[in-house]
Amino acid sequence: MDFSVNKIAADKQRASCIVVGIYESRRLSPSARALDDASGGELMKLIRSFEMQGSTDETLALNNLPDIPAKRVLLVGCGKKGAMSVSQYRRLLTTVMEKLGESGVKDVTLFLAELAVKEQDVYWKVRQIVETVRDSVYRFDQLKSAASTPKQPKIRRVVCAIASQRDKRRGEEGMRDAIGISDGVDLARELGNLPGNICTPTYLANRARQLARSHKSVKVRVLGEAEMKRLGMGTLLSVSRGSQEPARLITLAYNGSRAKKRPAVLIGKGVTFDSGGISIKPAAQMDEMKFDMCGAASVMGTVKVAASLGLPVNLVGIVAATENLPGSAASKPGDIYTSMSGQSVEVLNTDAEGRLVLCDALTYASRFDPDVVVDIATLTGACVVALGSHAAGLFSNNDRLAESLLGAGEFSHDRAWRLPLWDEYAEALKSNFADVANVGGREGGAITAASFLSRFATDYRWAHLDIAGVAWRGGKNKGATGRPVRLLSQFLLDRAGRKRVS
Ligand code: BES
Ligand code: MN
Ligand code: ZN
Repeated sequence: MDFSVNKIAADKQRASCIVVGIYESRRLSPSARALDDASGGELMKLIRSFEMQGSTDETLALNNLPDIPAKRVLLVGCGKKGAMSVSQYRRLLTTVMEKLGESGVKDVTLFLAELAVKEQDVYWKVRQIVETVRDSVYRFDQLKSAASTPKQPKIRRVVCAIASQRDKRRGEEGMRDAIGISDGVDLARELGNLPGNICTPTYLANRARQLARSHKSVKVRVLGEAEMKRLGMGTLLSVSRGSQEPARLITLAYNGSRAKKRPAVLIGKGVTFDSGGISIKPAAQMDEMKFDMCGAASVMGTVKVAASLGLPVNLVGIVAATENLPGSAASKPGDIYTSMSGQSVEVLNTDAEGRLVLCDALTYASRFDPDVVVDIATLTGACVVALGSHAAGLFSNNDRLAESLLGAGEFSHDRAWRLPLWDEYAEALKSNFADVANVGGREGGAITAASFLSRFATDYRWAHLDIAGVAWRGGKNKGATGRPVRLLSQFLLDRAGRKRVS
């Protein structure tokens, strides 16, 4: 895909399609105005005759306007004249991409960065445009044979038109960042979409090695079960007992900051298939538990973003990878294991495996002398009940860290919402036989899971993102979303001191 940012006049642009906005009551955007003038009022005539109003979600495609070099003009409704909200703008971009996908155009010029969006500048707008385009052309059909492969989107060239030459530098910055971020999102989506029989812990380790091979700034280390045992990772290894696939603890270290700055550590839950183990899950939608490694995928995607953009930050990505299956050696309800931290854990439910894997990774993270640690996990169905699919659950032992993650999510529109981590919730995890139980009751399930993790994140500033509701979509458009790579990438851009607005 070829992107560029250029100052161009809509009435001069030779492209198979150009896209311009119209506001409600047929108020024209600057580029629509230019087209109307150049076509001698023909644009407005057609808008009237097709009864387009300019309201949100409305589109109108016009071919061969007189004296306009572009073959086709796609008009998109922008709603009330004035600055749009961020969600309105994103919705408009999605509508445009749907229409362009259906029409099969190959090159398009978008006059959409000129539309005013509340509190956002040209950098943000171009970034949103490029990210939305990349999101809409993503396909996962590597496992379909040619015969059953659906039609590919044809768009190859996208020009983001800007209103003034002064916007070029910031616009291009937005484009470059968006391309880097989208490469990471694509990786996370691909790993998420791969089925459990291909995407095993060993496979993830190989993809991590590949990532390190293609970026000099990234080093990889993979621990096998023997090494994990030596480290005392009893709870992590309790999960892989029921599977033939050996667990892997993968560390990716990206060094982008010259200074010996303490790194941000990202930890991803990498359960490559979660059957529930002996506390087995019901059959309906169990296939979706191949997505239980989306936290890990987002960590690998974010490392890729940092490396491709060459961000001046130090970053460590840890992927705790295992299957959760009910083999004959599987752990059983009531079993007690000792974690690397020394705390013993009573496994009351083998389906609460994510926290067993993550707690050892959290202890392991201390050796990197982290500035902050963020774990990312498809941890609880309860989080899906609480927040649905629009926001990830955020938990933290540090208000500043929580604020910066929330802010990064807001800016990248990959949002999170904070939930409490009060001491009272810890009581649900009391065990009669071990230091802690791995489940509380039904109440506040996302919070008791986070509370369990917090017992292991005592040495540093820590946050936990429960992405169970946001990491993939079910139903007809089933597939991984790549979230929260955009949030995490923005978090790193902010840490790198990058300005959000010019
Ligand atoms: N991977 C699941 C969480 C999950 C379930 C994510 C459904 C998305 C959709 C996790 O390992 C799990 O099974 N959690 C249990 C915890 C319970 C046993 C306390 C859950 O949420 O039901
Ligand atoms: Mn589970
Ligand atoms: Zn799980």
